[in-house]
Amino acid sequence: MEIKNVVVAGGGVLGSQIAFQAAYCGFNVTIWLRSESSISRTRPKLDKVRDSYLQAVELMASDPAPANWCAGIADAGRFDKDDCLRKVEAAYNGIRLELDMAKAVADADVVIESVAESVPEKIAFYKTLAPLLYAKTLLLTNSSTLLPSQFADVTGRPDKYLSLHFANAIWKNNTAEVMPQPKTSRESFDETMAFANQIRMVALPVMKEKSGYLLNSMLVPFLLSGLDLYANGISDPASIDTAWTRGTGAPRGPFQIFDVVGIQTAYNIISQYRKVPGLFAPLLKKMMLPYNFKAMEAILKKMLDEGKLGKSSGEGFYKY
Ligand SMILES: NC(=O)c1ccc[n+]([C@@H]2O[C@H](COP(=O)([O-])OP(=O)(O)OC[C@H]3O[C@@H](n4cnc5c(N)ncnc54)[C@H](O)[C@@H]3O)[C@@H](O)[C@H]2O)c1
Repeated sequence: MEIKNVVVAGGGVLGSQIAFQAAYCGFNVTIWLRSESSISRTRPKLDKVRDSYLQAVELMASDPAPANWCAGIADAGRFDKDDCLRKVEAAYNGIRLELDMAKAVADADVVIESVAESVPEKIAFYKTLAPLLYAKTLLLTNSSTLLPSQFADVTGRPDKYLSLHFANAIWKNNTAEVMPQPKTSRESFDETMAFANQIRMVALPVMKEKSGYLLNSMLVPFLLSGLDLYANGISDPASIDTAWTRGTGAPRGPFQIFDVVGIQTAYNIISQYRKVPGLFAPLLKKMMLPYNFKAMEAILKKMLDEGKLGKSSGEGFYKY
């Protein structure tokens, strides 16, 4: 199936980015929103995303170092600043916002669900959507922690339903994890992989359902391992980071990553380990039990109370 018309449901942090990226790549894009007040929250988000693309293009033009490169915007070696700027403006002006769900999804080739991470809200959304969709429409979820098999039947099209999971700052962190559930057809999986590539994502197959997909399945235990060393008084953040960076050649250690991600998000992840145990599988039994979650939580809570939110506030584990 040739995909032309893309609908993103939800215009939040990620929905606005996914819509912008698809529009930037030349697709007809509609964002479905549930109320007038959602429109007034989504417009400024799109303004912000547009600014981020414009700043990225300027930076790539002035200093095309790998650290500045945004592969969601252009390939290295084939960069045409004017063409990129034209595409950013065309994306910004082309995205349609629609409150009427039936109108939004009429003739949609693909609907990408990016509404709040809540089971009842997602179920309610899929139930309303199911009778309105054309038979051809592929239905994708951007959920970070919920498995698609949980919703497959309520979508009314389990064979055409799977996860397409994006990363924040999609224009730079341009991976898309493609994860089918047991009832997804091979054809839908292949179409989703192809579509992800068409919107300049690096499509990564996740062949079995797994909370945390690929990246977070590795990153979260890594970050927790570093924090656990500190929480148990084994060593200090700078030494733990150096052990990792000098020892492996990786650019950042766990505490440098915590500061970039933000202490609030770190705290949320620590709090989430109880809710999403699958995030840590298969490490849970062997490695996670000795983790001193209480001490980790206390360290992060104290930092939050002191306003040390990470790089964004000028101080986290390090001062900036
Ligand atoms: N924020 C991230 O870094 C990130 C990364 C990857 C995936 N995700 C996933 O993307 C999805 C959205 O996350 P977000 O960060 O954009 O959230 P957000 O809170 O910024 O946006 C959620 C959007 O959904 C709308 N919404 C909420 N409840 C709804 C309902 N019942 N019906 C219709 N619309 C509703 C809101 O109005 C808003 O537009 C989640 O499933 C999340 O797991 C988020």
